[in-house]
Amino acid sequence: MNSESGAERDSAETPAADAGFLWDFWYPALRSTKIRGNELATAMLLEIPLVLGRTKDGKAFAMRDSCPHRGIPLSYGRFDGTTLECSYHGWRFDGCSGRCVEIPSLTSQDKLKVERIFAGHFPCEEHDGYVWVYMNAPRTRLPETIDAAPELKTFSANYKITHLECDLPSHIDHGIIGLMDPAHGPFVHQSWFWRSRKSIHDKEKKFEPIPNGFRMSPHSPSTNSAPYQVLKRMTGAPVTTTIDFVLPNLRTEEIRSGKYWFSSRAAVTPVRRDLCRIDFVAAWNLPLPVGIFRMFAKKFLRQDQETMIQQAEGLKHNPRLMLIDDADRPAKWYFGLKANRLESRRNGTPMVHPMDGPVTLRWRS
Ligand code: FES
Ligand SMILES: [Fe+2]
Repeated sequence: MNSESGAERDSAETPAADAGFLWDFWYPALRSTKIRGNELATAMLLEIPLVLGRTKDGKAFAMRDSCPHRGIPLSYGRFDGTTLECSYHGWRFDGCSGRCVEIPSLTSQDKLKVERIFAGHFPCEEHDGYVWVYMNAPRTRLPETIDAAPELKTFSANYKITHLECDLPSHIDHGIIGLMDPAHGPFVHQSWFWRSRKSIHDKEKKFEPIPNGFRMSPHSPSTNSAPYQVLKRMTGAPVTTTIDFVLPNLRTEEIRSGKYWFSSRAAVTPVRRDLCRIDFVAAWNLPLPVGIFRMFAKKFLRQDQETMIQQAEGLKHNPRLMLIDDADRPAKWYFGLKANRLESRRNGTPMVHPMDGPVTLRWRS
């Protein structure tokens, strides 16, 4: 299957190669709740405009929001639960395959093979309240098999779940290294309920390589964070945290203590080269009301967002930047992973992991 149209496309439609995106991965395009009935929704991923909908059988689909005839956004058209009709000349496309099923202007004399025309379309899955879209690189064929889209881990039948999002006016690389950065906490996130600036102390954490990423090995979380103290007192059991980063953009965190668990995932979703979005989902079975959690999480995200808005001001002028050891080592691993992944795609060779084995990092925060 070719996700791009069978018709020729000119290069103007393809974003410049140097936008620094990682193709051939799943990305969350939008929240599932944004698609209701036969309504169409739009989103942008990696500078590709998308039109999304759900068939009457409940299957989400994503097409390039551009008619292969004259390029008008297909989102101006109408969807009947199976096919999407372009608003300009009424060509109709099957939602799931993007295949053209009708060109109303054709007469019985016409020889044009309608079924050979495709609107650009992308694999689509729904998990955890998001519509995920597999963004295969422009003008490439889809691989024979692709992994399933990421799914948030949960550890009991009943749990609470909540979603938050926040736009960052930054390239995805800055979004990601900001997300993993261990040293900004006491400055950006200082507040009475979390920790104070005076609580900075030496930290030592073990990291290990995992496929496509790295893991902060299971450990007992920071003693200077109030919520962990509360959890420990509540369960009487030790608290362990495992934090993973995996390409292209996912940070997951698992906190376990006795029968209680908390699981979260932050995806830094690349929209355009100058815009990304944090899509954050968390689930837990702790006796923690969703409203309270959201209040704190929103404040946290807002603090990161404000900082990144200020950073973007500085980055406009292309300053030279630094990555220091050990606090910026995770950022270095991210850039290493990304470069090696691109390299392996170019050469068709297996991806080399930038880490040789477990490493202990030390920093103060
Ligand atoms: S532009 Fe879509 S049918 Fe002509
Ligand atoms: Fe932060």
